[in-house]
Order: sequence, then C-alpha cells, then structure tokens
Amino acid sequence: MNYQYAYSSSENNLPLNGPVVCSITSGKGGVGKTNLSVNIAYLLGQKGYKTMLLDADLGLGNVDVLLGLNPRFNIFHLLSNEVKLKNIIYKTKYNFNILPAPSGVCDLLSLSPGQKLEFLEAMDSLEDEVDFFLVDTGAGINDNVLYFNMAAQHRIIVLTPEPTSLTDSYALIKVLHLDHKINKFYIIVNLCRDYKNAKDTFKRLYLACDHFLKGVSLNLLGYVPRDMNVRHSVTEQVPFCYRYPDTLATKSLKSIVTNLETFKNYKMELDGNIKFFWKKLLFLGQ
Ligand SMILES: Nc1ncnc2c1ncn2[C@@H]1O[C@H](COP(=O)(O)OP(=O)(O)O)[C@@H](O)[C@H]1O
Ligand SMILES: [Mg+2]
Repeated sequence: MNYQYAYSSSENNLPLNGPVVCSITSGKGGVGKTNLSVNIAYLLGQKGYKTMLLDADLGLGNVDVLLGLNPRFNIFHLLSNEVKLKNIIYKTKYNFNILPAPSGVCDLLSLSPGQKLEFLEAMDSLEDEVDFFLVDTGAGINDNVLYFNMAAQHRIIVLTPEPTSLTDSYALIKVLHLDHKINKFYIIVNLCRDYKNAKDTFKRLYLACDHFLKGVSLNLLGYVPRDMNVRHSVTEQVPFCYRYPDTLATKSLKSIVTNLETFKNYKMELDGNIKFFWKKLLFLGQ
C-alpha cells in the first residue's frame, strides 16, 4: 500500500502534523504492553508508516527478546561518540525500527548541558524519518514511567479486566493528572473475553475517574481478547499479527491501529514532536 507522507501547512507556514509520539504504558506489569507495542508497530509499518519503537521498559526491556534480536548499542553510545544514530537504530525485518532504551532517565537528566544539546541534535534527524514514535514503558508509578509518559504527546494505558490492573491504572492516572496536569488518556483493554467485557472494564475505570478525578478524559481506543496465538507467537519470537493474520487478537488490533491513524491530525510542536519529547525528558524538573 502506498502512503503519502503529507505535510499540510498552517497559516504561519508551520507543518500541521508531524510524527505522532505515543507512550504505551500501564499501572501493572504483565498486561501485554510489549506485545501490543510490537504488533502496533508492525501493523503501522505494514500500512506504510515509518514507525520507530523506543524500548523504554528500563531494566526489563524485552522488545528485543520478543523479536529474537540482540541490539549491540543503545542511545548512550551516541554520546560517547562510539556510534552514529543510524548504528543504534535497529531495522527489523517487519518494516519497523527499534531504538533501544537508555539505561535510565536519571542518566539522561545528569548529562551536561553540552551533552544534552548534542543528544538533541542527533535526535533531530528522526523528525523527518518517522511517522509514529511509540514508547513501550515499564509499569507502575516510578519516575522512569512517569517521565516517559509526561514527555509523550499521547498516552495509551493498557489494562486488563483484573481488579488489580484496574486499581493500578487508576493510581497511574491519578498521579499523572494531579501531579503533572495530564488530562487525556487512551485506553486499550487487553486479555478480555470480548467487547462487552472490555466495555465493562473501561466503564469501571471511567466511573472511578469521573467520580474522583475531575477533568480527566478517558477514551477507549479498543480492546484485544485473550488469544492463545499471542502466546504461541511469543514462543516463536515473531509478532502475532505477522504469524497469525486472521486470529482474533490481530483483527482487534487492526481496528485499534485504524483509530491510531487519526492521531496524525494533531498539530506539531514548534521544533518537532520527537525533539519535544526528548527535550521534555532531558530538562524535566528544571
Ligand atoms: N491478548 C493476549 N492473549 C493472550 N496472551 C497475551 C495477550 N496479551 C499478552 N499476553 C501474554 O501476557 C504476557 C505478558 O505480556 P507482555 O507484553 O510482556 O506484558 P508487559 O509488557 O505489559 O509486561 C506474555 O506472556 C504474553 O504472551
Ligand atoms: Mg514489557
């Protein structure tokens, strides 16, 4: 399929849209973030979008494991001038790229001003080379998770029908809203039985937020049912949408990706969405 990377201009000649920067996050671990991130990246790639997945589950990063890859460098090697950006971007055979994470946001924050500038300059080139920049974060409300979510343009929270997933999602939304003024969240209900089960789960989270967190808006982006083929593909180290194109989980994820495509209509930051993301991360708390 052909996809034209269309930049439309606003009155002051700024591009209206640019790369979409989305975190994929959760309150609780093991809810399917990495599986969904990899497969969303795969489906976007199949549609012709230039897609980059940042593996930001620091410590537990396992995008590479899921795909049977062994990346040698991460973005910190850029700073030691050992390698160029193109050497740390890992091109998968599925038409999307992976950027291995730094070892921790704290390391980014402690860079010297000169190093931060150098880092941002290196990232500058990504702006024109990426349509979707997905960030697979860790779980919970630790600083790393919060920072990546604060820096992202959109936040997608993955939850499951389990009560613990619901309470942990609520806790994450609460911190991001009350402490960091983030009001809008997209929700994917994973590992559910069916659409009704997903809608009920979403409704429980929605009611809690509506009652206790005024001003928070939740949008159900879609759901993915529990599907044994997802597990099989993990063992086979291939994206489930590639290996099982007709399985239920693939069909559901395709409609989520159709919804995600509408994110392209959002306005771009002055100096680019990806640069904005890294700038926010690098200068948090200053
Ligand atoms: N829709 C699904 N159906 C069946 N198993 C799933 C589904 N989504 C995730 N899983 C399984 O759940 C486990 C955790 O998934 P993972 O993506 O590693 O979670 P996270 O990144 O949130 O920790 C994996 O073993 C994966 O195969
Ligand atoms: Mg993960």
